[in-house]
Amino acid sequence: MAWQGDRLSMLDQRSLPQAEEYLELRSYAQVADAIRGMAVRGAPAIGVAAAYGMALGALAGHPIDEVADRLVAARPTAVNLEWAVERIRSLGDWRFESVLAEAEAIEREDIAMNEAMGKLGAELIEPGSNVMTICNTGSLATAGHGTALGIIRTAHKQGKRIHVWSCETRPRQQGLRLTAFELMKEGIPFHSIADSAAASLMRSGQVNCVIVGADRIASNGDTANKIGTYSLAVLARYHGVPFYVAAPSSTLDAQMPSGESIPIEERDGSELATVDGHPVGPEGCPVFNPAFDVTPGNLISAIVTEGAVHRQPFSFGTSFAD
Ligand code: MRU
Repeated sequence: MAWQGDRLSMLDQRSLPQAEEYLELRSYAQVADAIRGMAVRGAPAIGVAAAYGMALGALAGHPIDEVADRLVAARPTAVNLEWAVERIRSLGDWRFESVLAEAEAIEREDIAMNEAMGKLGAELIEPGSNVMTICNTGSLATAGHGTALGIIRTAHKQGKRIHVWSCETRPRQQGLRLTAFELMKEGIPFHSIADSAAASLMRSGQVNCVIVGADRIASNGDTANKIGTYSLAVLARYHGVPFYVAAPSSTLDAQMPSGESIPIEERDGSELATVDGHPVGPEGCPVFNPAFDVTPGNLISAIVTEGAVHRQPFSFGTSFAD
């Protein structure tokens, strides 16, 4: 993602890994559509994209509330989107230059938070570990470096000789398409696996820890993340495998006392019932397609933020530092 003076240039993640195509977004409505359509995805990345969407809205002279409300409505679960938009709305300054400067600050800070998390989280990973992860939490999902994948990247750079089990992540296959793409680029040893292979790998002792990202963390540590994360947490508890969550402050929703009220996005059934646009299920097959689930805090061994490694019982105030 790069601001180009009057537009936002964005890698279209839907084409990866087959093609690296860029979208040139010139209006806030196009940014909202790119978020909704998942050209950009991953909680921190959609927060940064929305911040630049605000800049496009300010540049075109649209009313701030119209722009903010449309962007926030694009996807409901990742709180980073709302956080970035509200941070700009609360500036009380709708001049384009001010909004752009704030968007750039949000982007810079996200990279710094990810790098800090990488260092803290890498301490949790023993040399020679087999690390399981789900979805994509790397550079593509953030402003750079990544959260859970950022920790994996840092541990690899430290020479810890890790190997990654990367869950495919049905139905949109962010693991197979995006995480595999990033891991190959970095030369990090890994295998992509079907989501359903996780249990037997844990049972045979081939998983030393699970590390995942987050879309929203409630003040009691309940964590919304990609659908399938909760299953991994239950499996990890049963098999005695540590289960870690990595997320920056922008993912904390301290107003939410528990995960029960986290809004869970339901996406179109065609994501599940088709593969590469080809129908697989019978025509008219009814589908339920929630994009996220909530892992109760009591299944999480530690939450890694930019400031600390938090252990149970979790109780977050307005920031991870409280
Ligand atoms: O639907 P997506 O691809 O936006 O879901 C992304 C995830 O669930 C990630 O794990 C989460 O946003 C953390 S990204 C650092």
